[in-house]
Amino acid sequence: MAREFTSVGVVGLGTMGAGIVEVFARNGIDVVAVEISDGALERGRANLTGSTDRAVARGKLAEADRDALLSRVDFQVGLDALHSVDLVIEAVPEHLDLKQRLFAELDRICRPETILATNTSSLSVTEISVATGRPNQVIGIHFFNPAPVMKLVEVVRTVVTSAEVVADVEALCARLGKVDVTINDRAGFIANALLFGYLNHAVAMYESHYATREDIDAAMKLGCGLPMGPLALMDLIGLDTAYEILDTMYRRGGRDRRHAPVPLLKQMVTAGLLGRKSGRGFYTYERPGSPKVVPDERTPAATGPALADGARAIAKVGVVGSGTMATGIIEVFAKAGYEVVSVTRGAEKSAKVCEAVKTSLNKGVVRGKLSEHDRDAALGRVTWSATLDHLADVDLVVEAVVEELSVKKALFASLDEICKPGVVLATTTSSLPVIDVAMATHRPADVVGLHFFNPAPVMPLVEIVRTIRTSEETTVTARAVCAALGKTGVVCADRSGFVVNALLFPYLNDAVRMLEASYSSADDIDHAMKLGCGYPMGPFELLDVVGLDVSLAIQRELYLELREPGFAPAPLLEHLVTAGYLGRKTGRGFRDHTNR
Ligand SMILES: NC(=O)c1ccc[n+]([C@@H]2O[C@H](COP(=O)([O-])OP(=O)(O)OC[C@H]3O[C@@H](n4cnc5c(N)ncnc54)[C@H](O)[C@@H]3O)[C@@H](O)[C@H]2O)c1
Repeated sequence: MAREFTSVGVVGLGTMGAGIVEVFARNGIDVVAVEISDGALERGRANLTGSTDRAVARGKLAEADRDALLSRVDFQVGLDALHSVDLVIEAVPEHLDLKQRLFAELDRICRPETILATNTSSLSVTEISVATGRPNQVIGIHFFNPAPVMKLVEVVRTVVTSAEVVADVEALCARLGKVDVTINDRAGFIANALLFGYLNHAVAMYESHYATREDIDAAMKLGCGLPMGPLALMDLIGLDTAYEILDTMYRRGGRDRRHAPVPLLKQMVTAGLLGRKSGRGFYTYERPGSPKVVPDERTPAATGPALADGARAIAKVGVVGSGTMATGIIEVFAKAGYEVVSVTRGAEKSAKVCEAVKTSLNKGVVRGKLSEHDRDAALGRVTWSATLDHLADVDLVVEAVVEELSVKKALFASLDEICKPGVVLATTTSSLPVIDVAMATHRPADVVGLHFFNPAPVMPLVEIVRTIRTSEETTVTARAVCAALGKTGVVCADRSGFVVNALLFPYLNDAVRMLEASYSSADDIDHAMKLGCGYPMGPFELLDVVGLDVSLAIQRELYLELREPGFAPAPLLEHLVTAGYLGRKTGRGFRDHTNR
């Protein structure tokens, strides 16, 4: 029989603590909520009431239930109030010495059978536990932010945590409606070990003016379906907490440079820019603690028609290529009202592309997303050709041929000869340097990357890749075109992986390394990222969909360009590719798909 928890203590009522109090109290458990001072206690109370009031306003919590929830919480200053609870979980700042002192105190105050838990994200639970005389009753219960919303809890057992304590805490998580994964004590556990390298990398991109904060966040939300972008997430986590987590992970996790906190983070923390909780971090919020972003001096002014200021007029668009991307891009432009010239390498290929575009448009009609009239109008705007000469009078060319530099360079050299002056020449490459393609022409200022995502008609994101030779006018034109297509265009510099792949694939590669190290199973890692971070797919699900060969190729490119040791492809990924386990397309990747 699992132990019955009737009252618990929560220490520290900041970002996480207040949410954890809410989780317990919502599930009928009495909570003693402790802070360090009267002022901090009032802030903690405000965190809790703010969150429950929002839940009521959104219709997710009845008023009476909120009142009952709040009546279960006993707010107190000082640890002495915790003498008779069954379990204490602490959520004080991420400092080992602070947590060790706190646990020594709790050990003295609490009954001998009380379980002492830490919500640490990165510190060693083992090191915390030895500050007490009961290390076998110390455990990690790692909730995710926001605790009332995120389903995952990582239960961290040390080598001395007793099996009954682990079982009791697992049963408690189930009672709280949470899904737990139980793991050993390693820096960052599952989710943060995979998340924080990515977050730090995003901050580095922002610091180096690689792309704006809005564009970095939009890229990850729209390109990967994440619930929020990395910089908005840093603000939610709290920059001081994020700094401490990175710093600890760097020191505990093998001094991986990717965890060395980006200098900007320390500067922001020193300046009091802590994220949502202080009202300002990467973004500015309505007031401290508010989730509402308000405009500040960095908010881009241009939205709507102003976006087109200085842009060249684009009416006729050439699309070169006959694959999946070219087909989707033809459809996108034709539906948006552009005249399109499709150029392939022969009449047979043109017929195939034409058929594919028709099929896709027809699907839109069947699903009620497109009228028959609009379908016919879109098709009527496309002309099919097998010669580049027909691109002489277009205003924009989008190239989507095979991902080989020599082929693309030869094509751009031809376009340079054929196209009229002033045309914007765009490549959809996802991994080659755009500047190499641009320099194959005599007009590199007019060359830009337009990286569409697959399937182009569905995915709302386009990365606009500006080389060091791309003119402002070309970039502005590309932005205006994306807006006219109903897509979000994010502008970034010409570096391997642009924004999305550069941030996404190292994370996937890290997940493979974690599996390879036998720290956790593919199922648990997938669960952790979906339920702890709200990702639409876990890393192994996604790798199997994308294709392991494609993923390996991208990861290799990133590694070769950036020479970051942490980006070296995981040997397991290489072996699976060598073995022909490429993912869904071959029936087997990380998982066997043949019987599913
Ligand atoms: N922020 C996140 O997204 C997140 C997610 C999961 C876990 N965590 C972990 O949770 C813990 C807390 O992080 P946070 O972001 O909530 O921090 P926070 O800064 O928002 O809150 C910490 C709170 O602890 C209080 N406090 C400090 N010393 C205390 C003491 N001696 N006794 C009682 N209260 C004290 C502070 O007044 C503050 O209210 C950290 O270990 C962190 O790694 C954070």
